[in-house]
Amino acid sequence: MNTAGIVVGSFNARVGLPAAIAILRAGGSALDAAVAAVREVEDDLSDRGVGTGGLPNILGQVELDASLMDGQTLASGAVGALKGYPHPIDVARKVMELTPHVMLVGDGADLFARLHGFEPAPLLTSDVEEYWRQTITASRVEDMTLYDRRGERYAGVVRDWTTLLHQEIFGTTNVIARDGQGNIACAVSTSGWGFKWPGRLGDSPIIGAGNYADNRYGAAACTGRGELAIRVALAYNVVRSLREGRPLDHALRAGLGEVNALPDNLEKRAGSMNIVAMGRDGQVAAASNVPDSHYVYQTTDMDTLEVRPRLYVPDAL
Ligand code: GLY
Repeated sequence: MNTAGIVVGSFNARVGLPAAIAILRAGGSALDAAVAAVREVEDDLSDRGVGTGGLPNILGQVELDASLMDGQTLASGAVGALKGYPHPIDVARKVMELTPHVMLVGDGADLFARLHGFEPAPLLTSDVEEYWRQTITASRVEDMTLYDRRGERYAGVVRDWTTLLHQEIFGTTNVIARDGQGNIACAVSTSGWGFKWPGRLGDSPIIGAGNYADNRYGAAACTGRGELAIRVALAYNVVRSLREGRPLDHALRAGLGEVNALPDNLEKRAGSMNIVAMGRDGQVAAASNVPDSHYVYQTTDMDTLEVRPRLYVPDAL
């Protein structure tokens, strides 16, 4: 068994890896390390897909989703569409630790955060607010109640929606950590699909879709267009393959192959899907259905993190 601490995550998690590695070096748990790394990304104002500075929904409200899972016990916690609290990953952890529930969403999640001592803070930064104003064409809520099968009416409200879909509006961060005791944990956080419908949840708060960890087999966590991950239970899909004894890269190819085979009701297929994964002994791999995608990796024995290319999986299973 590898006894060094190990952390793997999406490319934007690089700002959080030093915090995770410091915790693991001090003998801290995988769960503490994964949460600490994600919290750093939530505070990164330049990241428009996570935490403070994240893109809002069509009404200009930043709604945050997060979840975490402890691979030793399979304990899990999640929040969805949380408004006004900058560290949804900490609120998700409290849900896991204090309640008999796994997931709280919307007003109930806000209330839980308030009553359990979390400090509210503004999440919509001035530059993102300006970007939202330039992007939304409707001035009245009534004009925003627009969906049709081809997405054309929605595209009429969100300026250049189709272009945005292919660029920058699916940000998320995820981190999987393994500590010296061999425990594995994962944590995920996102502001979700930029200019989303209020209340829309992606894969990030859904255990089994956005993340999954089980010490006995390994862990996986996803970023990208969450609807696709939900439909194939992508994180569990990968861990299930590991449980069946497949090597990591096979598990990743199989999971993304299922995503790539999904019928898609967006006229032009949009949105990447990416996975990071860890085997039970700490081996890591990552994959994406878009080329030139990267992830980050570090062990407690390494001085600095490594940026590594993901396996490119363009094909349907
Ligand atoms: N993967 C994040 C989301 O779809 O909301």
